Amino acid sequence: MDDRPIGMFDSGFGGLTVARAVIDLLPDESLVYLGDTGRYPYGPRPLEQVAEFAHQITAELVERRNVKMVVVACNTAAAAALHSLQEAFDVPVVGVIEPGVRALVQTSATGRVGVIGTVGSVRSGAYQAAVALESPSSELTAVACPGFVEFVERGEFDSEQVHVLARALLAPAREAKVDALLLGCTHYPYLARTISDVMGRDVVLVSSADETAFEVRRLLIDLGMQRPAGAGPATQQFVTTGDLDWFEELGRRLLGPELDRAERLEWA
Ligand code: DGL
Repeated sequence: MDDRPIGMFDSGFGGLTVARAVIDLLPDESLVYLGDTGRYPYGPRPLEQVAEFAHQITAELVERRNVKMVVVACNTAAAAALHSLQEAFDVPVVGVIEPGVRALVQTSATGRVGVIGTVGSVRSGAYQAAVALESPSSELTAVACPGFVEFVERGEFDSEQVHVLARALLAPAREAKVDALLLGCTHYPYLARTISDVMGRDVVLVSSADETAFEVRRLLIDLGMQRPAGAGPATQQFVTTGDLDWFEELGRRLLGPELDRAERLEWA
């Protein structure tokens, strides 16, 4: 049994899709969420720099906020640093790539699968490697979607401009006739309506959020780290490195009432 909160981070609002799934599946667990909105987007940055950010944030969560586990709720950060974080910290560190890929290959009937993500994640080859491992016979089309994250961070989810960009970026996935498409960036579920309009209703969109929440639950049980019953109500704490008012306003719209206020963190 372990009373400490679960730590989670993303470059910004995207990881709230994973936070929502964890709160829903594990309502008795406390959570500290850090959105590095002061430095988003991570996608276009060199992976070495994203890895540096990921280590800095994980140290903040583990050493200052005393979390019992860290969920890297950002595909780009997971692609850049999951393994080095697992080596460097003595709490379990969970990513979103493997859980997402597992759900993707299970969903597909034809074996023609797609993944969309940031330039950093797609270029890293992490998805290509994970699909090859999970389902060697699957045919993967991986497409980078630069610009999607910025729309989400602005709170713009289905404007004409997002549609125009989506039509252009998603063309290779449409041409490949995938029947399942993994939203390989935690921001993208907020664009699901637009992405589905462009891909067509017969393409199943897969988000890694639920699958990651189940992975967190499995680990907590396996390691005997669940929060003890009778420990009082779970708490949710939200931290941003960017604009506090905007984080609270858009964050509440995206996550729901649990995000009633946030705290601003200034990197020293
Ligand atoms: N939400 C992130 C991901 O899953 C990062 C997006 C970004 O900051 O570019 O990749």
